[in-house]
Amino acid sequence: MAQIIDGKLISAQIKEEIKEKTKKLVVEKGIQPGLALLLVGENPAAKSYVASKEKACAELGFKSIVIRLSEDTDEKTVLNYVEQWNNDSSIHGILVQLPLPKHIDEAKVINSISPLKDVDGFHPESFGRLVIGLPGFVPCTPAGIIELMKRYNIQTKGKHVVVVGRSNIVGKPIANLLYQKKPNANAIVTICHTAAPDIRYYTKQADILITAIGVPKFIKSDDVKDGVVIIDVGINRVVDKSKEKGYLIVGDVDFDSVMEKASAITPVPGGVGLMTVAMLMSNTYKSASGEI
Ligand code: GUN
Repeated sequence: MAQIIDGKLISAQIKEEIKEKTKKLVVEKGIQPGLALLLVGENPAAKSYVASKEKACAELGFKSIVIRLSEDTDEKTVLNYVEQWNNDSSIHGILVQLPLPKHIDEAKVINSISPLKDVDGFHPESFGRLVIGLPGFVPCTPAGIIELMKRYNIQTKGKHVVVVGRSNIVGKPIANLLYQKKPNANAIVTICHTAAPDIRYYTKQADILITAIGVPKFIKSDDVKDGVVIIDVGINRVVDKSKEKGYLIVGDVDFDSVMEKASAITPVPGGVGLMTVAMLMSNTYKSASGEI
């Protein structure tokens, strides 16, 4: 039976650690970490993520500014908010929730965020630093994966990590982090994606399998080898009328199916998802304290 990698427990520990450090930062240096959040449109998942980020700011003693705009907001308005926050010394982190509506150029918005306040780690400068191995803001979900494996003592050195998915938010950064010649990395990394004739050919070879594709229960028991460590980044809503909300959240991995074969696994919900918010708080704290 697989060990459950408890994202709820670890994210709570991390947030508690940051809360204590924040108290000190306020008392000793008079600095309160400040995070500005911008949401455009009505995407239910995006709305719920922004709400949990706002709640975490309140719990940890951060200042937060949250701007919610309608779907038809123009690009210039978004760029104006970013510029205003780039020049506001009480704001240490800027987060524009993705996805943005189609008529707004996502890359242009990300590029407009000051690299000094890029707590999402999506700016090309942050990504370039990550690839080279320089210090900088690491995207929150990949940072959360590294932190979970570290705190559960999961060895990565020399292990074959297979990443399924090549998104800018998860697949590309986690793959680039894990092959670095550093502690909690130094792995042999394969990235596979939709162009693979048979994705399962790769997943079966993984010592550590990281899935971030957004396909409910895509990975089954036959697709993995004995003892695999599974990090499931998928957060998929599937219709379930028996639930109060009318849907159920499942991962990219069929949890029950792989449970017997895996040595450790992150559940969905209660795994990686909660770590994303904790690492956002960590990045914002580091920006405020001058660590990054
Ligand atoms: N959409 C999905 N994940 C993220 C994230 O980590 N940050 C932002 N800004 N948008 C997202």
